This record gives sequence, C-alpha cells and structure tokens, in this order.
Amino acid sequence: MYSVIIKKASVRVTPDFLHDSLSGTISKFSKFLPLLLSLLLLTVISTTSAQVQAQETIQFTAEQVANGEAIYKETCQICHGNRLSNGQFGTPLRGSFFSNNWKGKSLGELVQNTYEKMPPDNVMSMSMQQYAEVISFILSRNKIEPGDTALEANIDALNQIPLPWQ
Ligand code: HEC
Repeated sequence: MYSVIIKKASVRVTPDFLHDSLSGTISKFSKFLPLLLSLLLLTVISTTSAQVQAQETIQFTAEQVANGEAIYKETCQICHGNRLSNGQFGTPLRGSFFSNNWKGKSLGELVQNTYEKMPPDNVMSMSMQQYAEVISFILSRNKIEPGDTALEANIDALNQIPLPWQ
C-alpha cells in the first residue's frame, strides 16, 4: 500500500524538479524513498511491539524478596554463597556468569529450571510460590528492583516475561 502512494508521489514531484540542478539528487532520493519509508514503518512496528513486550516486565514485591532471602539462606546459601557469587559448590547466581547463562531466555524457564534442579538433593521440594520468591530474591541481587506487583507462580505467565539481559 505504501509503495503505491510513494510511486504516485514521486511521479507528481519529479517533473517539477527535472530541470532543476538538484533534480539528479532528488530523483536519486525518491528511488530510495520507498526503502526509507519501509524502514520507518518497520521502526514504528518494532517500537509498538517493544511497548507490548514492555508490559510483560519482571515484577515482584519487597515482601517476596524478604521471603525468598529467608529460603535462600536456609536452602541455597550453603552451595551458592552468602553473596550469591562466592559459593564453593554452586555456580554464581549474580553477575555476568549468571546473566550470560540466562540472556534471551524467559523468567518462566529460570523458575522452572530451578524448580526441577534445585536444591540438587531435594528438587521440587517447595511450592512454586516459594521458588518464585527465591528467584525474586536472586533477581533483586541482579539489580532488578522490587515494585508493587507480585511475581506470579504461574509458569505459563512467567514464560511470557523475557529476562532483561541481552
Ligand atoms: C548442593 C549444592 C546446591 C544447593 C543446596 C543449591 N544449588 Fe543451585 N546449583 C548448584 C550447582 C552445582 C549448580 C550448577 C549445575 C546445574 O545447573 O545443575 C547450580 C545451579 C543453579 C542455578 C542455575 C544457575 C545458572 O546460571 O545456570 C540456579 C538458578 C540455582 N542453582 C538456584 C538454586 C536455588 C534457588 C537453591 C535453593 C533453593 C539452590 N540453587 C540450591 C548447587 C546447589
């Protein structure tokens, strides 16, 4: 639809400028006009979908972080360390090691993976709610701030939420 409009526009505009010394430049430009406009259109489309995605941001409350911290200290710290990056028996749960492992994945994958694999000797030992809380705590230590909305313990919903690291 757009290219049709552009063709009409260029037919109308070009003759006026044909004898102009600038005509060469302008007709060159009008050749690229469809391309430029499609790029513009693409930008608009991708901005719009980014906005749609932005609604699916990670949200959890300070209360979930506090509950998660208690769980972490009791169940996870022994391997992953009190600073989440200084564990002797578990990989770092903060910083670039962690974000590189999880970039491009969803929050649902992180929660599900933790539910199925952690703690290694007692997997799936807590409710999904508790796993969501301990993940909230881990995310809060990865510079994601708590807010007013709680993190749902619903894997289908969490699968829609991309992790922030690129
Ligand atoms: C017995 C030691 C141990 C305990 C206890 C433990 N972990 Fe782990 N954890 C590991 C090891 C080892 C790995 C790396 C191997 C793997 O991913 O299976 C790991 C990996 C992870 C990962 C994935 C890290 C990544 O970058 O891929 C997460 C998330 C995690 N643990 C969270 C937890 C949570 C939350 C708890 C407490 C509920 C916990 N772990 C308890 C040893 C442990």
